[in-house]
This record gives sequence, C-alpha cells and structure tokens, in this order.
Amino acid sequence: MEASNQKKKLQGYVGFANLPNQVHRKSIKRGFTFTLMVVGEAGIGKSTLINTLFETKIFPIKEETVVDAQTGVEITSMGAEIQEGGVKLRLTVVDTPGFGNSINNEENWKPILENIESRFDAFLGQENRVIKNKITDNRIDALIYFIKPTGHSLRAIDIEFMKRLHTKVNLIPVIPKSDTLTQDELTGFKSRVMADINYHQIQIFKPNWDPLDDAETVADCKDMLAKIPFAVIGSDKSYENDSGKTVRGRKYPWGLIEVDNESHNDFVKLRRMLICTHMNELKDATDTVLYENHRSQKLFTMGHVQDNTVFREYNPAAYLEEERRLHDLKMQKMEAEMNAVFQQKVQEKETKLKQSEEELYARHKEMKVNLEKQRIELEEKKKKLMSTNRPVTPIDKKQKRGLFSL
Ligand code: GTP
Repeated sequence: MEASNQKKKLQGYVGFANLPNQVHRKSIKRGFTFTLMVVGEAGIGKSTLINTLFETKIFPIKEETVVDAQTGVEITSMGAEIQEGGVKLRLTVVDTPGFGNSINNEENWKPILENIESRFDAFLGQENRVIKNKITDNRIDALIYFIKPTGHSLRAIDIEFMKRLHTKVNLIPVIPKSDTLTQDELTGFKSRVMADINYHQIQIFKPNWDPLDDAETVADCKDMLAKIPFAVIGSDKSYENDSGKTVRGRKYPWGLIEVDNESHNDFVKLRRMLICTHMNELKDATDTVLYENHRSQKLFTMGHVQDNTVFREYNPAAYLEEERRLHDLKMQKMEAEMNAVFQQKVQEKETKLKQSEEELYARHKEMKVNLEKQRIELEEKKKKLMSTNRPVTPIDKKQKRGLFSL
C-alpha cells in the first residue's frame, strides 16, 4: 500500500527547519571539492589565468603526469587546498600540456576524452562496489577551453575538440589574452565563435535560471550568458590605477588593463559564474547529466537498460565480456608502451656498444702504429750497430743480446 502524502499542519515546534543548517555545517566541515581541466596550446595563458582566478599560485606544483605516446599530450594534475571565510575548497586543476603543439594535431582530443571517461569509469566502479564507504570523486566538473585569440573564427582543432568532448564535460570556452585584440576585433571574433559553436551544435555550459528565481538572479545569469565566450586577461602583477588604487592588471605604454575591471574584460563574469554562482551547478550537471549519460551508455552496451519503457535483462556475460574487452585494451596499450620503451633501451645500448667498439678499434690502431714505429727505430739502431766496423766488445755483445730480446 502506498503511503498517503497529505499536507499536515504542525501543532508546535518540531525542529527539522534546521535541516539546511545541519547540511550547511556538515559541508563546511567536510569542505568542497572541485576538479577543473584546462585545455589550450602552450603559452596561451592557462596557468596565469588559473592563478589569477584562485588568487594563489596553483601552477606549477605537479602531482602526477600521464603522457599519451601517440599524440604527445600530457595529463597533469595539480592539487591545492584553499580557504576563504572558513570554507575549505579542495581544488584539482588538470592541465593538458602538449595539446595543439604537434604538426599533426588531429587526434589531440583523444587522450583527453579517454582521461575524462576513465574518471567516470573509476567512479562507476566504486559505485558498483558492495561496500561503498569511501567514494573518491575525480570526475572533471568543468573544462575551460582556451580559444586562440586570432580574431578570425574557430579553427578546425577547436571545433573537433569541442564536438568530441561536449557530451562528456561542461565546456567553458574562453578567449585568453583579450588585451591583444581591439574592442572591435573582439566583438566580431566573439560573434563568429558563437556562430561556429551554434552551427556545429556544440553544447557549452550556459548559466541557467529557474522561473522562480528573483529578478536579480535572472539578470545576473543573463549578463553572464551574454559574455560567453568570456574574453579574459590574466596577470600576477599589480599596479596603481588612475584612482590611486593598487589593482591586478597588465601595463602598457598607453595604459593599464585591469583584471577585475568589468569594462576592461570579462574576467569578473567568468570568475563569478565558475566560482560564486555556478560551481555547484557544474558539479550537479556533471553528476546528473554527463555522468548519468555515460553510465547509461556503458550499461546499455553491457545489455542493461535502466529506462522504464525499454527493459532488457541485465546480462552478466555481456558485462564480463565488456570488462574483459576494456582490460584487454588496457593491457595492449601497456604492452605497446613497454615495447616502445624496450626498443628505445635496446637502441641506446647498441649505440653505446658501437661507440665503445669504435673507441677500442681506434686505440688498437694507435697502439699498432706506435709499436711499428718503435720496431722501425730499433731496426735502424740495429743496422747502425751492425754496420760499425769496430771489433766486437763484450759491451756490444750485451747490447746486441738486449736488442734481440726486444
Ligand atoms: P604552458 O605552461 O606552456 O602551457 O603555457 P600557459 O598556457 O600556461 O601560458 P602562461 O600562463 O604560462 O602564459 C604564457 C605567457 O603569456 C606569459 O608570458 C604570460 O605572462 C603571458 N600572458 C598570460 N596571460 C596573458 C594575458 O592575458 N595577456 C597577455 N598579453 N599576456 C598574457
């Protein structure tokens, strides 16, 4: 029998109105976690922007690095625990050096997609465990994609990357180093980038609001939305502005561009969306939309459909088969990497051996020449001695014996 859900009026104080405070206190005690990935080619301003966003030097303390042998793209994690007003945030920044740096960048998206998916799989593996006492969540909550400030439009590499990744992660496109473009160039560039994004049906993260939200929140979200892709500047230096205030910025002979000035760039809007207003929403979207899609797809391939309308039996054989297939793929990759390392080591050894062989041969040749020289000299001396026409003295005999014994 179903429990009835009638609304009842309370006669007195019960106390559950305090629940939000309990949740709040628990969260404060535990702290919050956020995992942010940054993608963009070398020198585009990734580390400077992250350090500027979190007002701390998060880069370059590297914790772990994985290099993709095929594309040369590295995946590096950096962790930092930051505190503000007694609230702890455990921030992990995942950098992807090597992206867009090769002559052929066609498959640069691949190791990044694999990394994001493997984080989902790790989470799924923990969820499927019988004992779930401590689940580590390393899923990527947001990915800041750095669009090169060319002033033209999106490049093929940008489109390919975003198309491949948009269903797996909350994409936040930014135009870094916006101080290198004029206001007119920037306006045109932004609208061409958005036109490309819409044309290719790329889903990017957009701040959304609820019909019940107050007018201020709605206006705030609309303002942020209008700025996408955020054109930002980063800087770790401070200068005095015209009003005598010390501000973070980039100084030029013609003036100062302030990081935190909304009329100079969109940094404030990006930070507001990412940290102040939508951090939790990004985590929620990762958990309830992106991860859920990934999980359903995975279970579907294993023959387990959760949807109420379409239901198939959970197929343990298919599950095991899929597990085995993934394991085999992993082993093949490891084997290929080990083989590559082995080949490299053998080659290094061979080169070394060849080098020492050549050195030995050269030394042997030199010794041979020297000995030959000595032999000739001694022959000369012998001849000289033999040719002298004086009677042979016992000393001469001794010398002769000495010579022959050489
Ligand atoms: P890698 O570590 O090589 O991947 O580079 P990165 O993408 O982390 O770039 P980084 O932040 O190290 O910046 C590279 C250079 O660009 C540095 O000299 C920065 O000072 C400069 N830079 C960073 N942000 C900006 C910006 O907003 N405007 C301008 N003009 N220069 C910037």
